[in-house]
Parts: sequence; structure tokens; C-alpha cells
Amino acid sequence: MTKAPILITGAAGFIGSHVAQAVVRMGGRVVGVDNLDPFYPRSCKEANLRELAASASFEFVESDIADARAMRGVFGRVRPAGVIHLAAKAGVRPSIADPVGYAHANITGTAVIQQAAAESGCDRLVVASSSSVYGNSLTAPFSETQDVNEPISPYAATKRATELIGHTHWKLTGMPTAELRFFTVYGPRQRPDLAIAKFLGAVAKGEPVTLFGDGSMSRDYTYIDDIVAGVLAAYDRIPAHGYRVWNLGGNHPVALGEMLATVERVVGKKAVVKRGPMQPGDVLRTWADLTRSSAELGYSPRTPFEEGVEKQWAWLKAER
Ligand SMILES: NC(=O)c1ccc[n+]([C@@H]2O[C@H](COP(=O)([O-])OP(=O)(O)OC[C@H]3O[C@@H](n4cnc5c(N)ncnc54)[C@H](O)[C@@H]3O)[C@@H](O)[C@H]2O)c1
Repeated sequence: MTKAPILITGAAGFIGSHVAQAVVRMGGRVVGVDNLDPFYPRSCKEANLRELAASASFEFVESDIADARAMRGVFGRVRPAGVIHLAAKAGVRPSIADPVGYAHANITGTAVIQQAAAESGCDRLVVASSSSVYGNSLTAPFSETQDVNEPISPYAATKRATELIGHTHWKLTGMPTAELRFFTVYGPRQRPDLAIAKFLGAVAKGEPVTLFGDGSMSRDYTYIDDIVAGVLAAYDRIPAHGYRVWNLGGNHPVALGEMLATVERVVGKKAVVKRGPMQPGDVLRTWADLTRSSAELGYSPRTPFEEGVEKQWAWLKAER
């Protein structure tokens, strides 16, 4: 009998397609679920799936995770061993205009996935949370043990909600459940709405880039391969923990101005800079305390920032 597949939601997205490829490369089987949400072009998501689609170990199901009937059908047919739940409406700024849509996809969608996983006998669940749950915390680096009760965007609130319903799910079903707080992920296939992707494209074309705030805003950027390693380690190890929250960050906050200077060096062109005010919902900084994830997952980000930006740029040039 072949081993049961892992069901990965959001498999057509940036992080999901990389995680799915890593599982397939390691000899596993994957069923990917994604509704190809129009937040960014369907063509990007189809491109993300291209390599996977050629593998006999990958099956794609185009479906909405908030559709309980559809999910029950998929889980009942596939009987996955476990779930890596990455599907979500992502992005802080657009969530302010669409809090109901974000709540539906991210909170209801996660509840549906939890229930379908429990009913079909999955043995573990790994869920994407976000560094945004830390809000504008003054205590940095951000540790999993600190209070996270003051999210400042609808997106962040939905991610915190997934952690809370994940805890309930574990308490009631006993299903080991990991909640992973990703810190701004970048690299090939990065979502086109995120700053590095936008800046690389604009600088290359000589179009203006807008710097919000005074340039001191900083992010703990995390290269995609490091995130994939953290997700797979969490999948392996969560049964020993029950319910656990882990930070997956890059361990090196980079100020916005420094990020732009890196993009300029990598592209080999100066940016045309416009200034704008800090955007509602944006946090001032993110910085992961990795003590817990390194001790319990063996997590250790390996990709220096500039090297990661170079890899993303090489990918972008090849795609254009
Ligand atoms: N990229 C980051 O920097 C980052 C940081 C923190 C957390 N996260 C989280 O990681 C996960 C993956 O993020 P990403 O950057 O790969 O985003 P992405 O938008 O590229 O991928 C998410 C995928 O989920 C799918 N999706 C959205 N709503 C759906 C629904 N109702 N049903 C089925 N599929 C649906 C989308 O079509 C998309 O392909 C998300 O949960 C996101 O919130 C990402």
C-alpha cells in the first residue's frame, strides 16, 4: 500500500508551491487544494504549479477551503495522513478594505479544514500564522511567550484567531497542531504585492518606488528555503508537542532603506524614490526570537539577505 498523501492548502501560492515541491522531491505524495483566489493573477499561480503538475505524486484540486461540503468530499476521498494549511487571504493592507472576506477565508476556512481533518482521521495539522500577530509590540525580538492580543490589522486578527481555534481543535480532538508565525517571506515566486517583488520590478523598469514612513521601518525577512525547512520540521515534530506556536524568521531585521539599497545593488540601478506616509495596518518592525524554534525544530535560517534577493532577481529575470 502506498503511503497516504499530505494535503497542502494554498498549494498554488508562493509558499505552498515550494512546500509541495519539497515534499514531492523527498518522495512523498501531495494533494494540493487552492481556489486560485484572484488577489494576484491566476497565471502566476498556474506558473507556480507548472513543475508540480508534471509529477505523478501531485494531484491538484481547485476548491475553496471555506466550502465545508467540498472539503469533506476531498478529505473523505483522499484520506490524507496530515495537513499543511497555508491557504489564506494574505496581505495586511487589502484586509482593511475587506475584513469580512478575510475572516471568511482565514477563520471559517481554517475551521472547515480542522473539522475535515478530524473527521477523516488525519494525524497532524500545521497552520500558517504570521509575525503580524505581534502588532506594534515594543518587546523585541518577538518571542512566542509574549502577549499577542493587540493585532493592528484585520489580517493579523484573523491569523491570531487561527492560533486560538487551533488550540481548541487540539484540546478537543487531540490532533497535534502547529502554528507557524512566518516573518516576511521572500525568494522566487514571492507574492507580487510584497515589497521586494515590487521594488525589483520597479527599479529594473526605472519606475518610481514608494517608501512609506521615514525608511526606518524594518522587517525580519526570511528566505523561502528556510521557511520550507521550518514547515517540514514542524510537520515531523509536532506529534511530540501537542499544540505549539513557533516563530520562523530570518534572524536579521532589515530597515526599509537598507532593503532598497540591496535591491539597487542586485539590479545594478538606482531607484526613483517617492515618499509616502506610514500605511494603516503596517507594523513598525518585526524581529523573530528563534530560541524556541531552533531548540525544538533545529530551525536555523541559512540564507543571507542579499544572496536571497539575488536568487529572487535571477528568477524574476528568467520569468520575464
Ligand atoms: N509570504 C509571507 O511573507 C507570509 C508571512 C506571514 C504569513 N504568511 C502566510 O503564509 C501562507 C501562504 O502565504 P503566501 O505568501 O504563499 O500567499 P499566497 O497568496 O501566494 O498563497 C496563498 C494561497 O491560498 C489560496 N487561497 C486563498 N483563499 C483561499 C480559499 N478560500 N480556498 C482555497 N485557497 C485559497 C490562494 O489562491 C493562494 O494561492 C498564508 O496563510 C499567509 O497568510 C505569509
